[in-house]
Amino acid sequence: MNYKVVYFSRTGTSKRVAEKIANKLSCEAVKITDNMNWDGVLGFIKGGYYAVRKKDVKIEINGNIDDADEIILVTPLWANRPAPAIEAFYQKMPLDKIHLVVTSNASKIKEHLAFKSLSEIIKNKNNEDLIIETLVNKLL
Ligand SMILES: Cc1cc2nc3c(=O)[nH]c(=O)nc-3n(C[C@H](O)[C@H](O)[C@H](O)COP(=O)(O)O)c2cc1C
Repeated sequence: MNYKVVYFSRTGTSKRVAEKIANKLSCEAVKITDNMNWDGVLGFIKGGYYAVRKKDVKIEINGNIDDADEIILVTPLWANRPAPAIEAFYQKMPLDKIHLVVTSNASKIKEHLAFKSLSEIIKNKNNEDLIIETLVNKLL
């Protein structure tokens, strides 16, 4: 199976998780960027607003994912949803090719779409390495 890890990250947690998974699967971690500035308190507030309102953002996929059989998609949780850039990404993809990995401070994702799998890394549960290990063991 040819995997690619794809991620969006505002403050580095999802990037770290994506890189750990890519390292264990010996595959590339491809970053998604968007056309927004999410920095600082204003960025945080705007992020919550965009997530709740399901507002569109324009994304760039900074690598080649055409040859991937399945994608491990790593996202921060924004107002109980994947970040807008991640929602824009999977709108164009068959969901059964995607293993969604969510990082959050405390809460779980609200809507369970038809992803191939869902893994939730929650800071206050301190479960990052356990969840990564469980996912990677399932994939290998
Ligand atoms: C706009 C915004 C909304 C967030 N909403 C939630 C939330 O609903 N529940 C939660 O537990 N964490 C929430 N968080 C915290 C992030 O999901 C968490 O810190 C995540 O691991 C950050 O990932 P990153 O460093 O890759 O950006 C939110 C963060 C932002 C910026």
